[in-house]
Amino acid sequence: MADTLDTAHTDPTEPGLPALQHRHLLGLATYSAAEIRLILETARQFRDVLGRRIKRVPTLRGITVVNLFFEPSTRTRISFELAEKRLSADTVNFSVSTSSVSKGETLKDTARNIEAMKIDMVVVRHKSPGAPHFLTQCVDAVIINAGDGAHEHPTQALLDLLTIADLKPSFEGLNVSIIGDITHSRVARSNLYALTALGAHVTLCGPRTLIPYGIEEMVEGGRVRVTHRLEEALEGCDVAMALRIQLERQEAGLFPSLREYHERFGIRLEHLEQHPDLIIMHPGPVNRGVELASEVVDHERAVILDQVTNGVAVRMAVLYLLAGLPDGEGAG
Ligand code: CP
Repeated sequence: MADTLDTAHTDPTEPGLPALQHRHLLGLATYSAAEIRLILETARQFRDVLGRRIKRVPTLRGITVVNLFFEPSTRTRISFELAEKRLSADTVNFSVSTSSVSKGETLKDTARNIEAMKIDMVVVRHKSPGAPHFLTQCVDAVIINAGDGAHEHPTQALLDLLTIADLKPSFEGLNVSIIGDITHSRVARSNLYALTALGAHVTLCGPRTLIPYGIEEMVEGGRVRVTHRLEEALEGCDVAMALRIQLERQEAGLFPSLREYHERFGIRLEHLEQHPDLIIMHPGPVNRGVELASEVVDHERAVILDQVTNGVAVRMAVLYLLAGLPDGEGAG
């Protein structure tokens, strides 16, 4: 497949296209550019399905998926559930507050008990980095990471990529700035791996206390740089991705106040005026007036809701590609 964001629709079951080399989606650090492109191409096909009057295909009929969310979520959880329903999978939702986890059951025992009920795939969000990887050692089901601590949030980065691909002609040479709390952000890490794998340059911007020392060395190829000045991050930038400031970071003294954060790192209308081609993204939930001025959230160049829309198609693609269906049982 060409190294472009060509929107030509290809059949993921077509001979010659690469299949996923992974059984699980734990993170994008080990996914190749070809695998990421395959997911994006497949997501485009499923997006066509979502545009139809009847938004359901029988692709995952007979497959059972459990959504195991140990942390709060609005977008990811609803989006996975919708994706599963659109693919005709059977879905089960697990909630910590009403489960035996609240009685002290371990993650391993919870997962093994659920698997004993013949579950094929597990979508898991957990506060501990590595929890999805740990689950692969406890159960035979396919594991999909829906966010593990500050480690990775791969489907968020994939939906971000699909959104960018709709607006920009190529990832090669694209300048993307990720602004905010890089240290604690699983979204930043997954995007860093995926964007650089596709040839983009990434600038990480935020207070010194919120950017790990030496993070630019995390990926090879010199495609990552760090700055602590927003103006520098926005210079020549094609896409600015603001990250949610977790309010407990202020209590921990990692920056002085939300007002000062907004003054130094918040994207405001003046920035959109100075950079007329700049696209604004945010994984949500947004703190209006902190990462982004409220008018920026509602601006036509903010594609935050497009990101959410693309989340369903991307998760359909990931579920489909990892379900291990025999050749020919494809999308559509
Ligand atoms: N972007 C994201 O992960 O949002 P949720 O926490 O609402 O799932």
